[in-house]
Amino acid sequence: MSPVLKPAAAYPATRLRRPRAHAWSRALFAEVTLSPADFIWPLFVTEGTGERTPVSTMPGVERLSVDLVAEAAKEAESLGIPCIALFPHTPPERRTADGREALNPDNLTCRAIKAIKAAAPGIGVLTDVALDPYTTHGHDGLLSDDGRILNDETIEMLQGQALVQARAGADIIAPSDMMDGRVGAIRKVLEAGSFHDVQIMSYAAKYASAFYGPFRDAVGSGGFLKGDKKTYQMNPANADEALREVALDIAEGADSVMVKPGMPYLDVIARVKDAFNIPVFAYQVSGEYAMLETAAQAGLIERDRMIIEALTAFRRAGCSGILTYYARDAARLLG
Ligand code: PBG
Repeated sequence: MSPVLKPAAAYPATRLRRPRAHAWSRALFAEVTLSPADFIWPLFVTEGTGERTPVSTMPGVERLSVDLVAEAAKEAESLGIPCIALFPHTPPERRTADGREALNPDNLTCRAIKAIKAAAPGIGVLTDVALDPYTTHGHDGLLSDDGRILNDETIEMLQGQALVQARAGADIIAPSDMMDGRVGAIRKVLEAGSFHDVQIMSYAAKYASAFYGPFRDAVGSGGFLKGDKKTYQMNPANADEALREVALDIAEGADSVMVKPGMPYLDVIARVKDAFNIPVFAYQVSGEYAMLETAAQAGLIERDRMIIEALTAFRRAGCSGILTYYARDAARLLG
């Protein structure tokens, strides 16, 4: 970022309102742009056909069966959205303490990947790697008898999960579990499996956040969660530590990194972009969406302007793109 230069001439020679006077001029002076090509659209997948179930904590968001996910992907492609992110709502009877459904090549995520690839071959598919949609305790990793999340044992599961997703056709593997060393371990099995072109977008700086509440309802893990995720997700007080997380993930082979949540962590996004100048993504998470959307639906803020302003802020902070539940609505607004 460039330092603020001392104006060569002060008022009245310099009037910063001058370029703001007309719409054409405001457009010309814009420092960043926002387009549908900046969005990754997260979708929740559920069993059945022709099935849509509203997520009560996220007004306007629905879980979709695999066939409808494919339809949504086609729509996204036609709107210019380059990528879909998938999150499964695993039936309770398929959840176990070890989350082994994550390794099932026929699980909801894998079926959704294949259906999207058949319906909309031009769109990218990003898949989440973590065990929480599959475990009976709602944690992202394996839980020991004395209640600890086991790092290295979890990594073996995540390697298997990533491989199953890559075989089904995933384009971007996105580990959201925050185990130490998982990016390198996943890169290793992808290389060994000849998935050289499958990318890794690491949830590098993922905070232990209250803003994930509605998501846990959407994937059905909230009711299960025992305790909290503070021994693996980051302390919201820390930003220097985010740079260490990002440095490690790049060294381990991440193609891009993510900061999550988004709006409360714009400073972290800006620092990561400044420090590494690599592709950085933000996740505008479920709680941010719920907060903004309920305010809009209550008539408290102007919805369309709010959506574009909130998303533009991520671009200004340095993001290449944004995972957002507003992807379709924003693409329509921009279109
Ligand atoms: C879980 C995961 C979470 C989200 C994405 N992947 C929740 C969590 O860590 O508990 C949150 C997304 C959102 O809130 O929109 N691995």
